[in-house]
Amino acid sequence: MNRMKSSNGFWASLFAKDVSLDQLPFETDMHSHVLPGVDDGFRSLEHSCEAVSRLAEMGVRNMILTPHIYPELYPGNSYGTIVSKFGEVKDSLREASGINFLPGGEHMVYEGFEDTFSGEMLLLPGKHILIEMSYAYESANLDETVFRLICMGYNPVLAHPERYLFYPSDLVRIREIVDKGCKLQFNLLSLGGFYGKGAAVKARAILERGLYSFAGTDLHSLAQIDMLRSMRFRRRHVPELERIMLNTTKLFLD
Ligand SMILES: [Fe+2]
Repeated sequence: MNRMKSSNGFWASLFAKDVSLDQLPFETDMHSHVLPGVDDGFRSLEHSCEAVSRLAEMGVRNMILTPHIYPELYPGNSYGTIVSKFGEVKDSLREASGINFLPGGEHMVYEGFEDTFSGEMLLLPGKHILIEMSYAYESANLDETVFRLICMGYNPVLAHPERYLFYPSDLVRIREIVDKGCKLQFNLLSLGGFYGKGAAVKARAILERGLYSFAGTDLHSLAQIDMLRSMRFRRRHVPELERIMLNTTKLFLD
């Protein structure tokens, strides 16, 4: 009887259908460009409200708004302006969705970034700090940045490592970054091929080696919500996706 039951389970899992995002515990989005009018993400509060309302329908309960923090491209984005803008819109976003929001930022690792560290960085809970690089080349000061952040008691998290064109899919360098104490966040859309085949292949490889700590949408537009909705995740990735998603919620509640 038991043997029959486990045999049924085997066949069921073999032929199980892929799953959609709302079948996964994706309750916390820790990377998004939904704070309106501050970067290359959403432009109007109206569209931001529509976005968060649709994410709530998909099961999202918590969000960290993480605009790009990069003086060269977005000179107006600083701790003061982002926190103030967040204060202006958070009630409207909350009313539209019921989601819990926190302000944060996605810090570009530009030349000299490691000399700018201060109490005015846009942190995520638990002293985590989301960092990113150019897609074309690795920041020369990445290792120094990670080292100094850790020495100062912060927890660096590299955004979407799968999207950086210069990292080969053997993951040697990516694993080295993890070994140096930097956590990795992956973009859900990468697995769906939204950023190209190379990013999808790397995302799968990083996921299958258990190297990601967190997941996010990196949402920039309403069109990306349609893509998230149409995505299907492979059944064999579900346990790892669940681990990462639950860990992301744990981060929010830190
Ligand atoms: Fe981003």
